[in-house]
Amino acid sequence: MYGVLKFHRDFIALTGFILYSLEQIVINTPGAVSNIFVGAAWETTWQHLPEDGVVIVTDNNVYDLYRGKFPGFPVLKIIPGEESKSLKVVEKLSDKLLKTGVGRSGFILAIGGGVVCDIAGFLASVFMRGIRCGYISTSLLSQVDASTGGKNGVNLGKIKNVIGNFRQPEFVICDTSMLKTLPEKEYLSGLAELIKTGLIGDPSIIASLENKYQEVISRNNEFLSDLVARAVRFKASIVSQDEKESGARRILNFGHTFGHAIELVESAKHGFAVASGMKLATLFSQEKGYISGAESSRIISLLEKYNLLGEYHLTVDKMRDLVIHDKKRSGTDIHFVFLESIGNGIVRKIPVDEVIEFYRHNNTDK
Ligand code: GLY
Repeated sequence: MYGVLKFHRDFIALTGFILYSLEQIVINTPGAVSNIFVGAAWETTWQHLPEDGVVIVTDNNVYDLYRGKFPGFPVLKIIPGEESKSLKVVEKLSDKLLKTGVGRSGFILAIGGGVVCDIAGFLASVFMRGIRCGYISTSLLSQVDASTGGKNGVNLGKIKNVIGNFRQPEFVICDTSMLKTLPEKEYLSGLAELIKTGLIGDPSIIASLENKYQEVISRNNEFLSDLVARAVRFKASIVSQDEKESGARRILNFGHTFGHAIELVESAKHGFAVASGMKLATLFSQEKGYISGAESSRIISLLEKYNLLGEYHLTVDKMRDLVIHDKKRSGTDIHFVFLESIGNGIVRKIPVDEVIEFYRHNNTDK
């Protein structure tokens, strides 16, 4: 079950957070309740954390930008970027966490994007068999997707998120004013996940991205808050039905089968790789007769409008290799996400060979 509560500016919410134009979206899973606040002012959260036992986990970039506003809790920093998502980093952080004297009643506050939240969430889930955690989500990608829904994990070498678990953060704060400082590429990478959400579940997101280019590019705060809220609402409804990805949640992987392979081989940013993966998955949906040619062209135009499509060179053999290691695979089949129309994703279990065959005749790097 998931719920949405709306508050107006100047109201103080149930939780005690002081909030501005706030929407509170609640994810209810069998073991937890997770509150996502979209539009909350991130600096107002401090007073509502435990008085002691809090440790902040962040990265060097976020620290340099915002440390002046951090409260006096110990801060553990990681190097920004995907390379930090390793067990080594979790081990080092655990060691430092232990040295702060934090015990089982401790609280990890992650302040950062997807990488920071993934690592901090995983750390909180295993440190002393699990301590509390909450996130201040600072990137568009993490606000619209990664920080919501309780997926935590690190990579094994270059293979993404092989070691991890599901555990919901107590809260996620999405303050879109923090998106102003994101580098252009990071911001665009997040837009790709927003487009994904629109394509699989909320066509109004696609219409807004098509029609409000200036607001998107200028990172208009109110506009972005509304878009982020729409994305989180959709994701909350899916995660509340299927936290552990045994059914409905699979839909969130639209574009990710090809996307993860591109990301790995080309070291592309996640959103850009997923954008190219979505283009391929859209063409595959068209080839299978699920989506019309007109809608397929509309999707590709939108991806082009935001410069999300790159030139990638991935041979069929390499693609096969990587798809075989995909977590969505089950024996010789894979749960592949198609589109029936804009706003309607569907999952079909199909042979891996069929995916590779499609790639073979839609790829120029044989
Ligand atoms: N990012 C996809 C999911 O959370 O399931």
